[in-house]
Amino acid sequence: MGADIRDIDTVRLNETEDAIEIIDQTLLPEKIEVLSLADQHDIWHAIHLLQVRGAPAIGITAGFALYLAAREIAGEMLCDSSGHVTKSRFFKKLTEAKEYLNSSRPTAVNLSWALNRVEAAAKDYCDSLKSCDIDSIKEMIDVMKNEAVEIYEEDIRVCKKIGEHALTLVNKGDGLITHCNAGKLATVRYGTATSVMYLGQEKGYDFKIYCDETRPLLQGARLTAFELAASGMDVTLLCDNMSASLMSTGKINAAFVGCDRVAANGDTANKIGTSMLALAAKRNNVPFYVCAPTSTIDMNTKSGKDIVIEQRGADEVTHMWYKHPVAPDGIKVYNPSFDVTDADLITGIITEKGIIKAPFEKGLKELFK
Ligand code: MRU
Repeated sequence: MGADIRDIDTVRLNETEDAIEIIDQTLLPEKIEVLSLADQHDIWHAIHLLQVRGAPAIGITAGFALYLAAREIAGEMLCDSSGHVTKSRFFKKLTEAKEYLNSSRPTAVNLSWALNRVEAAAKDYCDSLKSCDIDSIKEMIDVMKNEAVEIYEEDIRVCKKIGEHALTLVNKGDGLITHCNAGKLATVRYGTATSVMYLGQEKGYDFKIYCDETRPLLQGARLTAFELAASGMDVTLLCDNMSASLMSTGKINAAFVGCDRVAANGDTANKIGTSMLALAAKRNNVPFYVCAPTSTIDMNTKSGKDIVIEQRGADEVTHMWYKHPVAPDGIKVYNPSFDVTDADLITGIITEKGIIKAPFEKGLKELFK
């Protein structure tokens, strides 16, 4: 029998090996393979190439990566000519490692959020000490590990809470649509947008789930359809350009999507095609919910216009997932990885702390009070 995706963590820390283990998502659904990553460049590439992806999962990976970087930095400094570790040199190198990891992808705020959180845990610990010798550096690195592990564990609790809130918005037998993968494979266990589906399944809700395939990288087809079907749900796959048609049949009661960054005014960046789904939902009176852990809300970004949208290579559109090229050689390609859904198309933003409705600016401010 092959491995069961439900039994394998999307990302975890292997403390014995000093490595991060991830499910290589570029191989799914054909093959379930776990990659072990210890080198900072390999981790950077794994995030950049979407071997690990989804806003919470890349945040968790980055948190573990900064802890591993700290171990490496302290080790190297002990071996250099001076033979001792100084606080300022250590933090200079740690900041360099943080900036490097943060450059792997620009849109999901969870990446910088997790890196800053693990770095801040180290700084707070260090500030509490009178002097900083090698033993205290070792203790500080342990503090970093604990913080990174807490981010991982928190993700499970947060996603479950999002699902519980979302479950108050649906009924047994409902048809639900989702886009991209905001599932287990984008987090540790429940996913954000899929948490309502997993929890509903445990409670016998018998949802009919519809997954957009999500061109060009097909996260809906390769990942969401795969993980939900593996859990025994009733799943139907459709091409992205079919969702408006499906909604017009009345089969869809609600849309649940994830997000990579929520701006202070409620505008939301998520996988390319999300805004198209939101427009179709509005037209067809389908409630449109964005599932967002508070780690994905960025109160420093005023509106969707200020969100940096990742642009990716042409080959993803013309070649990557196809046996033969699907476009003429050398054709110009437009390939933004995300788009912004304007706040006025969103019915509610579901966080672990509750559901926020318009006016979002006020609701989001309240949340961070
Ligand atoms: O490019 P990806 O696959 O990382 O894009 C992921 C998404 O857009 C998800 O919907 C988002 O990160 C939320 S995951 C809970």
